[in-house]
Amino acid sequence: MKRITFSRRNVLQISLSLSGLLVLNSVRKFLGYQEPAVQTSQWTLDVPEAYAPGSVTAVPGGHGWIVRDAGGLYAVTAVCTHLGCLVNHEADAFTCPCHGSRFRVDGSVLHGPALQALPHVALSRTAEGLLRVDLTQQVAATERLAVG
Ligand code: FES
Repeated sequence: MKRITFSRRNVLQISLSLSGLLVLNSVRKFLGYQEPAVQTSQWTLDVPEAYAPGSVTAVPGGHGWIVRDAGGLYAVTAVCTHLGCLVNHEADAFTCPCHGSRFRVDGSVLHGPALQALPHVALSRTAEGLLRVDLTQQVAATERLAVG
């Protein structure tokens, strides 16, 4: 049987190599952040009139927000434009838990690191009069769904 021997130099080289791999794996995890996958992108919700003026309501699954202002209803994605974490609604703003970006409820940036506003996404009324949100279809930030 052949005997394998290691010199101090071999042990040191192996140790340094393993340490390097651990550091590389940590860097890969940090840089390789993946945007959370949207399971469902279209939702049929309640009637538009169910959303009170001034309300901010989470889309099921947490990937969007429905807001009612004086002009009607609009929806913004909850996916932060910095690195893709989901923003929370707190008081009168959306806050990103990952690096602290804040957005007004209209989606515009209050402060970074995010530089771009939360995109507005499509709202429509179904034939039955229910609210339908499509998180994949962006619309202009000025677009509103009128509420009767
Ligand atoms: S992912 Fe939102 S601030 Fe970085």
